[in-house]
Amino acid sequence: MTTSSAPGKIILFGEHAVVYGQPALAVPVSQVQVAVTVTEAERAGVWIEAPGIRLSCGLDRLPPDDPLAAAISAVFSTLGVAPPPACRIEIQSTIPVASGMGSGAAVSVAVLRALSSYLGRPLDDAQVNRLAFEIEKLHHGTPSGIDNTVITYARPVFFMKGQPIETLRVGTPFTIVIGDTGIASPTRLTVGAVRAAREAEPERFGRLFAAIGEIVRHARDAIESGDAPALGPLMDENHALLQQLAVSSPELDRLVQAARSAGALGAKLSGGGGGGNMIALVAPHTGDRLARALSRAGARQVFISHVA
Ligand code: PMV
Repeated sequence: MTTSSAPGKIILFGEHAVVYGQPALAVPVSQVQVAVTVTEAERAGVWIEAPGIRLSCGLDRLPPDDPLAAAISAVFSTLGVAPPPACRIEIQSTIPVASGMGSGAAVSVAVLRALSSYLGRPLDDAQVNRLAFEIEKLHHGTPSGIDNTVITYARPVFFMKGQPIETLRVGTPFTIVIGDTGIASPTRLTVGAVRAAREAEPERFGRLFAAIGEIVRHARDAIESGDAPALGPLMDENHALLQQLAVSSPELDRLVQAARSAGALGAKLSGGGGGGNMIALVAPHTGDRLARALSRAGARQVFISHVA
């Protein structure tokens, strides 16, 4: 039996602009996890159990472009294993689906690791990251690669498409509170809407993306120099720019506003937008209070995450 787990993630700054070559910052969120267990099976073939998405079937019943099937098949083809051994793959996840916490990438990473370890030939991080990126394309067309990267390396990252991975040194740990609107919003839809809007107004969108990129660079300096409070106003500015990209929603705006009214140092939507999650930066020891305020304002789930 082999088990592997992968954390969720949250984007601190730079979503959407990162698709167009700007940098973004993301951190792992270990309070939510995917755990994948591979065990020997008596019956031939590969059997999949994913109770969270009510999936219980053989690998041969899934279409090849199903992301889960693709992750499993990627291990067999990368390792040259044919025919697949009789085994049972069980996936348990506490990461909310389609809400910007990287559930798809985390499933891919944990499956790639658990299955390759089960076969006695564990894939290294670079292989896991590369294969998980290919699978991300099935989830949402033109991913930047930030999700698979932060989840594979499970470290805060400064990410730029096509550039070598840069992990971040966090000068002084800080706390963010994550509030889930409870509205599932597939990233593919908001990324597609931004693409269409950018085609209509390339110059305006170019300016918005560049302004977001500037915020990301300032945020990186603040994180590395231990000036976490400076991140608050940067979150507020980034949220305003995301509103201009039209990826916020009334529910996200309500939670962002509630966080600010309850004393957060700054707040923004996080991830694809349209629903999903927002984040707020809080002063030390005030996470619980802000979490309660977000729940009162309608957040379906709240996580307090320490970034270190
Ligand atoms: O956090 P998610 O999974 O919703 O990711 C969205 C991030 C985008 O920048 C909007 C898309 C991407 O591929 O980077």
